[in-house]
Amino acid sequence: MEDHIRFDAEACTLLLLDQRKLPLIEETFACRTVEDVVFALQTMVVRGAPAIGVSAAYGCRIALRQAMAAGAYWRNELERLLSMLAQARPTAVNLVWAVGLMREAGYNIQDPRELGEVWLALAMKIHAEDIAMNKAMGRFGGALLADGDTVMTHCNAGALATAGYGTALGVIRGAVDMGKKISVIANETRPFLQGARLTAYELHKDGIPVTVACDNACSLLMQRGMVDKVVVGADRIVANGDVANKIGTSGVAILARHYGIPFYVAAPSSTFDLATPDGSLIPIEDRTPLEVTHVGDTRITPEGVPVFNYAFDVTDHSLITGIITERGVLSPPYTSSIAEIIGQERRP
Ligand code: MRU
Repeated sequence: MEDHIRFDAEACTLLLLDQRKLPLIEETFACRTVEDVVFALQTMVVRGAPAIGVSAAYGCRIALRQAMAAGAYWRNELERLLSMLAQARPTAVNLVWAVGLMREAGYNIQDPRELGEVWLALAMKIHAEDIAMNKAMGRFGGALLADGDTVMTHCNAGALATAGYGTALGVIRGAVDMGKKISVIANETRPFLQGARLTAYELHKDGIPVTVACDNACSLLMQRGMVDKVVVGADRIVANGDVANKIGTSGVAILARHYGIPFYVAAPSSTFDLATPDGSLIPIEDRTPLEVTHVGDTRITPEGVPVFNYAFDVTDHSLITGIITERGVLSPPYTSSIAEIIGQERRP
């Protein structure tokens, strides 16, 4: 599945498979303005750290076309639109990474026509490289899984969350491509149900056996020996190896440690944030209460009762068996393995 993020260069329009409607409806959402892209990111038409980064890169190209309407002040207007884009969601570092790369490539270009060409080419490169990184992760990570393994995953770190193939699901696909028989347990991932809706959708489509479990079944499944390994994605990995990922991930990691089950994180170098020393400093997105108080259009909590809707949590690096990247599998101590393998080249 590699066509869920497309860019129509002629119409300068980003075309996204609307992930809010999956698995029941496959519908395209068209972004013609930066406001459309920000809306798509915030409402999770498109979601997942690498997919957010790729969409934002195309969003910069849309911002340029839009900024031209400001005439002589186009550069100021462009800067305003890029800042808006970069702030659409706070936790996934791939968003500021992608906008940062685009900014850097545009610093010395004065001619908007030339800038448009350079930015389109760079957005397409970010898009293509994401798929290549995921396939490399699939080869490194696939080797860690044994024939017959049942792998638990949380949220959706699959093709839909990236430009294609996936990070955590890329590792599973990598093992399957090696001829191994792998079954997956997809935690349903309240409240947006990325596991139940999206992970189950894409694995089922690929013919990879997948069973959906309620988030709170995790301990029982592990206790009964039904989980051999856990593989999850990441929204941000900081310098000491702490990992921000979908809310609930750290609980899965703590349970995996309790039951002696290996817990792996799969993420490309674009998800690393070496400027942040530890996980306590990662901004955690606090989303609308409506996602918790309602299922579809139906209210399930009493009127007037407050709810928590933190979208991410932080898994302590001490709980992580290995971090699978496109450059190889990082092992503890992460401060040195991250600095050595990711450190030097990671921008911005
Ligand atoms: O809120 P979401 O759906 O954007 O959160 C996504 C996740 O937490 C994923 O696990 C993470 O971005 C990795 S995607 C390859």
